[in-house]
Amino acid sequence: MSKTAHIATFGCQMNAYDSERMAGLLAKMGYARAQGPDTADLIILNTCSVRQRAEQKVYSYVGELKRLKAANPDLIIGVGGCVAQQEGASLLKRLRHLDFVFGTGALERLPELVSQAAEGYRMADTGLDAAPSPEIIVPARPGLKALVTVMTGCDNFCSYCVVPHVRGRERSRPADQVLAEVSALSRAGVREVTLLGQNVNSYQDPDSGLDFAGLLERVNQLPELWRIRFTTSHPKDLGPRLMEALAGLDKVMEQLHLPAQSGSDRVLQAMNRGYTRAQYLERVAELRALLPGLALGGDIIAGFPGESEDEFNETLSLLAEVRYDFLYSFMYSDRPFTRAGRLSGKLSEEAKRERLVRLQALQREIGLEEHGAQVGRVVEVLVEGPAKKGEGLMSGRCRAGRAVNFPGPPELAGRLARVRITEGREHSLLGELESAGEVKKP
Ligand code: SAH
Ligand code: SF4
Ligand code: F3S
Repeated sequence: MSKTAHIATFGCQMNAYDSERMAGLLAKMGYARAQGPDTADLIILNTCSVRQRAEQKVYSYVGELKRLKAANPDLIIGVGGCVAQQEGASLLKRLRHLDFVFGTGALERLPELVSQAAEGYRMADTGLDAAPSPEIIVPARPGLKALVTVMTGCDNFCSYCVVPHVRGRERSRPADQVLAEVSALSRAGVREVTLLGQNVNSYQDPDSGLDFAGLLERVNQLPELWRIRFTTSHPKDLGPRLMEALAGLDKVMEQLHLPAQSGSDRVLQAMNRGYTRAQYLERVAELRALLPGLALGGDIIAGFPGESEDEFNETLSLLAEVRYDFLYSFMYSDRPFTRAGRLSGKLSEEAKRERLVRLQALQREIGLEEHGAQVGRVVEVLVEGPAKKGEGLMSGRCRAGRAVNFPGPPELAGRLARVRITEGREHSLLGELESAGEVKKP
């Protein structure tokens, strides 16, 4: 019987992409995908450290694996990703049932580490700043949608953020490599690709100097591909070329994630974000003028150290002005190595939670109104399959990225459908099928 591996993924889309790469490397070693951790011969945790809660989740998961290791001493357990990078060898000391630790720069050395662990060695590999591997990995059974990392690392050092410390410096993958990967994916049936980077706006092909807008132009030409999304755009680097690509390229969807983090100039400066509230709003206005159908997403941190009530209210008013379609909001969390961690004026958990609740209540109203405004429109949906809830409903996403459910036949899965919106809910839209087929960019 072949050996099996289970990969548990925490954190962002970068980690999801890295987990696919790990699965590809392990498949070459003969590891099939396990049904779950209980039956696996090898368990890999791909971890996240962005907030304390994320890190805590990893430790509770690792704790639960103790009993599996006790029942099966041959089980190999490895911890990779951002917590691995942050903690390194100390994880091996603290958690005796772990076999190896590999940081974000050691991903490609996973096969060696697994082989060493099988021979009884306990190793930690946390070398950082490896160039992204040129290898192209296509999952064994790709779905309709896939993630492709175009750049790794981050150079921005926002004062609250651990990412630059656990992912190293920014590095772009050569455009030819990205293209070859997207092309291979689309030939395998993938119709929508999301290009990933912590700050895609600073993408630069190391060979030709091509920028991100240029990369989008090239990906847009791939014949089998229908849809392109990308994340994340840093507001300070969002320039006219990318805005025009977003508006002009037919396969680039009308959706943009543009995290503001705060609406207060003083807090933005303390966060080291590199833009003011006015500059952020100006970019949003330019975007809306170019592309009226654009859905905007954002991230907000509530309760940054020293954030006053007035400063928080400026964040609320920013929300009301921008009117995000979707918003991720977080309570500030102290992270190792960061400058914000050493600031005074920390808020209590209750104070931060109370602000988060207010943010989310306001966003709920805005989101409902924005979704309500979709009623009567005909949108293009890439149909993914039957909806999780609701008998006879099919589900997919419109060009702007909203989830759309509608009654329809299962044969529509994998196709584009024109759907007339009949109801806007908080997190999804409801509609009725008009016909199969495309809708042109607004
Ligand atoms: N590169 C992306 C996002 C990376 S992390 C960007 O710049 O937008 C995803 C989100 O987590 C961030 O946008 C931020 O809102 C949040 N985040 C990061 N560090 C945090 C911290 N210490 N506490 C709370 N939220 C944090
Ligand atoms: Fe973190 Fe800022 Fe880099 Fe985003 S841009 S990953 S928030 S340091
Ligand atoms: Fe988390 Fe690392 Fe992503 S810290 S958010 S998994 S880059």
